[in-house]
Amino acid sequence: MPRRGRDLDDLGIVPGGSVLVARGRIVAIGRAGDLQAEARRLRARAIDCRGRVLMPGFVDSHTHLVFAGSRVEDYERRLAGASYEEIARAGGGISHTARLVAETSPRALEAQARRFLGEFAAHGTTTVEVKTGYGLEAESEIKLLRVIRALDRHSVAEGSIRIGIVPTLLALHSLPASYQGRRAEYLETIVDRLIPFAAEQQMAEFIDCFCDRGAFTVDECRRVLAAGAAHGLIPRLHAEQLTRSGAARLGIETKAASVDHLDHISAADIRALARSSTVATLLPGVNLHLGLKNYAPARRLIEAGAAIALATDFNPGTSPILSMQLILSLACDAMRLSPTEAISAATINAAYSLRRDHEIGSLEPGKQADLIAMEVDDYRKIPYYAGWNHCVLTVHKGQVLGASG
Ligand code: NIG
Ligand code: FE
Repeated sequence: MPRRGRDLDDLGIVPGGSVLVARGRIVAIGRAGDLQAEARRLRARAIDCRGRVLMPGFVDSHTHLVFAGSRVEDYERRLAGASYEEIARAGGGISHTARLVAETSPRALEAQARRFLGEFAAHGTTTVEVKTGYGLEAESEIKLLRVIRALDRHSVAEGSIRIGIVPTLLALHSLPASYQGRRAEYLETIVDRLIPFAAEQQMAEFIDCFCDRGAFTVDECRRVLAAGAAHGLIPRLHAEQLTRSGAARLGIETKAASVDHLDHISAADIRALARSSTVATLLPGVNLHLGLKNYAPARRLIEAGAAIALATDFNPGTSPILSMQLILSLACDAMRLSPTEAISAATINAAYSLRRDHEIGSLEPGKQADLIAMEVDDYRKIPYYAGWNHCVLTVHKGQVLGASG
């Protein structure tokens, strides 16, 4: 279950604790001395983490990992004064990335994403949700689904990058140029072709829509989420990012696993969210990158009792940030979370939003051995020393990724 309110502060810290791992799972947690006999019996290899913080790997529950090129031109235009929406209307934005994706081979898309995955792992992320969404056209979306599947298969079969991948079909992101003035037809293709394909091929677990001004309406998203749910895909939503659109309500109504962004969520919506099992996922990297002064009302969400999670929203347009450690610093420094609240939101609550809290997100016997060691003697120094990479060891399913003793 997700942590809410005061429970977000409950990290269950074991001073001087050790974790015993066998066959990819956590067997026991306790003082090193108490685990020694069992460790010998299991012939466990010792990794000395004295003086470091050992914690669950980060669960990044919102990324757009697979794209082509970058958006440095948009970045420069924005720094010169243009807004995100102005740039999108002028042919930059999502449609620019979609054009590049259409021209790029699956192999090249996979290669870039794989490089990023290595960085995620090096920064302590052990599970990453990956959305499609830069295909827009059904064909191109299917290409992205295949790339995500290839990333996942290789991440299991090959040596260097082994982190968990959770695929999401971002079915409505932006109306492609070829469908201008033909919205209804576009929705038909998504509902009749793309969703059944993704579900039948088991290429996605979740379905997402960008429900906002300039993107898609509540009614359009409701229809697409319902079609997804009918095929077994669990809804999540980009909600209340640019305006108060009613998307958070739609998320609650459709029993979405998560509603994400929430910069413009209303007081009544906060109360409704707190009564629901839908997670409020906050993405402060977007606010940093876009230079926005206001952040989502994290404290009000926590105080109302909503289950909050934190994620990077890694994407070329609004958040080229893949470090969950930097997200923790932003959550604390800009949204005034405590370090304990931020860590809970970036681990167990994010895992809950991906329907994996029974497997990952905390260090408990029986769970998958996804853990990281941070080169700090106090967990509060992780957000405090912002912009560092404190992670010196990443372990996914018991496999050591970046060992340094
Ligand atoms: O989560 N809001 C929509 N989607 C992305 C941005 C995509 C882009 O600009 O390329 C987001 O912020
Ligand atoms: Fe996003």
